[in-house]
Amino acid sequence: EERISQLTEEVKRLKKERNAIILAHVYQRPEVQEVADIIGDSLELSRRAAATDADVIVFCGVHFMAESAAILSPDKIVLLPEENAGCPMADMVTAEELRAKKKEMPGAVVVAYVNTSAEVKAESDICCTSANAVKIVRSIPEDKPIIFIPDKNLGAYVATKTGRPMTLWEGWCNTHDWVTAEEVLKAKEEHPAALVLIHPECRPEVVALADYVSSTTGLIKFAKESDAKEFIIGTESGILHQLYKQCPGKEFYLATRRLVCPNMKATTLGKVKEALATMQPRITVPPHIREKALACLERMLAVK
Ligand code: 13P
Ligand code: SF4
Repeated sequence: EERISQLTEEVKRLKKERNAIILAHVYQRPEVQEVADIIGDSLELSRRAAATDADVIVFCGVHFMAESAAILSPDKIVLLPEENAGCPMADMVTAEELRAKKKEMPGAVVVAYVNTSAEVKAESDICCTSANAVKIVRSIPEDKPIIFIPDKNLGAYVATKTGRPMTLWEGWCNTHDWVTAEEVLKAKEEHPAALVLIHPECRPEVVALADYVSSTTGLIKFAKESDAKEFIIGTESGILHQLYKQCPGKEFYLATRRLVCPNMKATTLGKVKEALATMQPRITVPPHIREKALACLERMLAVK
């Protein structure tokens, strides 16, 4: 506790000195969320990374998020406090594999979940996040075939919502794909009054049990505005910090204790401090990749 409050003070001091902004995903550790200037889902964080006038962006999240910030703000210094914090799902599609798939399906539009590397974004037509995936897919002309990468679960959800058949990639999030329908049914039995809130990275049979499906920010907003007092949560455990903070008097139950993303938890307050002190590890994207990946992100941000 004492160490955390001391580190918090040091981070705040260094942040001012460096004219830095700290962006944190809601899956981050509570003490990391507490030092952040902005806490949000992937879409909000990329919007804020594009708009900030800070000199330094400290991205408390995983590699593809910091990379997106570097793509959107090439003149800023982007730091990822734990450089080994990756996203296993993003690693399930490489640029080379995608190029091969595009050859098989000439004329198809590639929709890339933001959980992809810069190189893969550079080979894609438009990005999406879980918050806007349905809208993005609806924005694509009806006669165009779609390749959706890399999350087969989010892809299946969007295909159902839009009625649009899509070629799905064989990728998934280990954390969300672990949740089983049995676990959700058991949680419902234990908490019969609770509403079920599910992230679309979960399997279709889990999504089918949901009262509400959305991105992390969407789930928090729903819990805040709902008359219900109890909720079963089908997304990463870090969200509980914001849920309890923003919804006083309400109770939240994780669908399974395994809803933990080790990569999201790899960033500690000590590492945030080190990053600000040393201005390392820095995330950069080579210009020839950046230009194309930027077009892919900008097409997403332009869809209203
Ligand atoms: P969102 O916060 O955009 O819902 O993303 C979930 C996720 O798994 C990010 O890695
Ligand atoms: Fe990737 Fe899943 Fe972790 Fe998000 S929760 S960073 S999608 S592994």
